[in-house]
Amino acid sequence: MSTVRQFVVGNWKMNGTRASLAEIDAVRSGIGGVACDVGICPPATLIAAATERARGAALMIGGQDCHTAAGGAHTGDVSAEMIADAGGTLVVVGHSERRTDHDEDDALVRAKAEAGWRAGLLVILCIGETEAQRRAGETLAVLSSQLEGSVPDGSSAENLVVAYEPVWAIGTGLTASNDDIREAHAHIRTELVARFGEAAAGIRLLYGGSVKPGNAGEILPLANVDGALVGGASLKAADFLGIIAAAG
Ligand code: 13P
Repeated sequence: MSTVRQFVVGNWKMNGTRASLAEIDAVRSGIGGVACDVGICPPATLIAAATERARGAALMIGGQDCHTAAGGAHTGDVSAEMIADAGGTLVVVGHSERRTDHDEDDALVRAKAEAGWRAGLLVILCIGETEAQRRAGETLAVLSSQLEGSVPDGSSAENLVVAYEPVWAIGTGLTASNDDIREAHAHIRTELVARFGEAAAGIRLLYGGSVKPGNAGEILPLANVDGALVGGASLKAADFLGIIAAAG
């Protein structure tokens, strides 16, 4: 079991309209007294309304991405400062869907993480191997290189959360085996402690990839698993609350 307070975060991806704010209300009602921290990252269009619905509750709201700049001529982008201004306190950077769909590389992800800090946001930085990399036996090397390239200097338990999301387990219904998760998370922990010292033991490591109420009870107690980053199962409050109930 994790040695820190676990953190369960919902990533709604490009899903959700104002009608979905009812799910925020339901999550809010269901998390009184839970043993973990909880966050939801809705699409940018809903951040301001979601923070209003979450006001006064132990429910963090955040963005799914940010630009590196605070503002300027970047049509369609959202800055970390805008997320903070809308009431958000979190930002996800380096999600594999951004790395793939928008060709984001480690250097850009690192700059986005620093932009998140500049705006005072807690950064959730995603890493993970593709199926081809896993089959080639490159998983741990890929994780090391992503950590080295995308995690900024100055990272700490207060400003950074790392999410391990094997790309082949996202949205597929496949989850990594318990041994695979243990091995990856232990490796990430070792790398972070080697770089940032013993205090990096407090940096929360989330697992992501087809986490559901039915498997959360098995995944969340694994060593070095300090929570979950949840896609599809975070869209319905009942499912998301089922995962939260398994955290401690
Ligand atoms: P799923 O839970 O839908 O597999 O998505 C995981 C994810 O990518 C969360 O960021």
